[in-house]
Amino acid sequence: MTIARDEAPIGRQTVSEEGLDAAERLSNEELRELQLERLQWTLNHAYQNVPHYRRAFDAAGVRPSDCKTLDDLAKFPYTTKDDLRENYPFGMFAVPREQVSRIHASSGTTGRPTVVGYTTEDLDLWATVVARSIRAAGGGPGDIVHVAYGYGLFTGGLGAHYGAEKLGCTVVPASGGMTARQVQLINDFKPTIIMLTPSYMLTLLDEFERQGLDPKASSLKVGIFGAEPWTPAMREEIEQRAGIDAVDIYGLSEVIGPGVSQECVQTKDGLHIWEDHFYPEVVDPLRDTVKPEGEKGELVFTSLTKQAMPVIRYRTRDLTRLLPGTARPAFRRMEKVTGRSDDMIILRGVNLFPTQIEEIVLRTDGLAPHFQLRLTRRHRMDHLTVQVEAEPDASSERRIVAAAHVVSAVKDGIGVSVEVDVVDPDTLERSMGKLRRIKDLRDQDRP
Ligand code: DLL
Repeated sequence: MTIARDEAPIGRQTVSEEGLDAAERLSNEELRELQLERLQWTLNHAYQNVPHYRRAFDAAGVRPSDCKTLDDLAKFPYTTKDDLRENYPFGMFAVPREQVSRIHASSGTTGRPTVVGYTTEDLDLWATVVARSIRAAGGGPGDIVHVAYGYGLFTGGLGAHYGAEKLGCTVVPASGGMTARQVQLINDFKPTIIMLTPSYMLTLLDEFERQGLDPKASSLKVGIFGAEPWTPAMREEIEQRAGIDAVDIYGLSEVIGPGVSQECVQTKDGLHIWEDHFYPEVVDPLRDTVKPEGEKGELVFTSLTKQAMPVIRYRTRDLTRLLPGTARPAFRRMEKVTGRSDDMIILRGVNLFPTQIEEIVLRTDGLAPHFQLRLTRRHRMDHLTVQVEAEPDASSERRIVAAAHVVSAVKDGIGVSVEVDVVDPDTLERSMGKLRRIKDLRDQDRP
């Protein structure tokens, strides 16, 4: 059984005056009908071809034929990162390995990496959704796109690359690292669009200034930032320093990579989920029940058209809520992801996300946007130190006032005491890609 993926090809000729392709203009009814048809295909495809799904559906007592409406998806079991690890490396593939054109894998900071595979048609679908994302961000044929997401097993670089090419852009595959050279390439090639993690953008902005260049004077007009959580305060910081529009791109390798959802430059009101290919749900992470639109919980995705590695109800661990469509009425939006359940610090019973600290640091005078969270143990209690860099010209008095401001803003806003250590400029490690904000040193402190 094959599924028709007869998207109108991306390109000038198929896009409406408002810059929307045929799928983005579907009515709610048309989209739901398309989704149901594709969901039924996906459930069948997974059940027939992936032993893991066959076992999981059988254990839950459900068959693909039980899916008669979109709501019936809730009867099917979730898929987790552990399921992917247990089937390492190729056990989740639904097509013979010979039909898999490309492999990517997550960094796997703990345990085995998770492996994902794509057929040539999946790669084309991926390029299509990334092209659509870049277009929503304000890009189009003829733009020069500087890609500074890492190339390799990480999906950021190659995902952005093929999407930009598909849209008809000129791509500069800079990858991550060699920051001084990135600045030179931007000056010489004059890209209008840059794609990289927001934390690496800060590193680049510092490098512009170090070279005595004003980033606002560069050719860049739009930055498409993702792969890690970032706050509205960070958007403001980047937009002001770089003189660009900063928009959010979301995705994860298990679902496809970047291009699952995208904020559009006109509205910047959350990320439009490309629902013709990825079906979202938000669930209560503790009770496993589906939450209604507007309520916050864990984001869950089911792929609708992927061939090599369909995912059914994949638990992303990302926390957000679904919102009704706006600029693309049938596509629901997701609120900016504020954090992952994995990144949540429970400090003396209080839940805290690095993004909450980011908001506070960025709104405090005298501090640079570079900070790290060090978790240690003192007197058998968890202790959090916010190490944050001072602005280059901040006096020692200003640093003291800034530290006190962060301590009280965290206490008042989050309800927990932290220590704040304002360090000299340029002393904390800089991001070259996905930044790990939390340094967990608790094990080292145990006797
Ligand atoms: O980070 C794919 C990607 C590349 C997305 C480039 C955007 C741009 P993974 O390495 O599998 O894939 O990591 C996926 O990163 O579950 C989120 O926790 C986080 N993440 C990705 N995009 C965003 C975002 C890529 N815009 C994990 N905001 C996801 C917040 C994000 N978190």
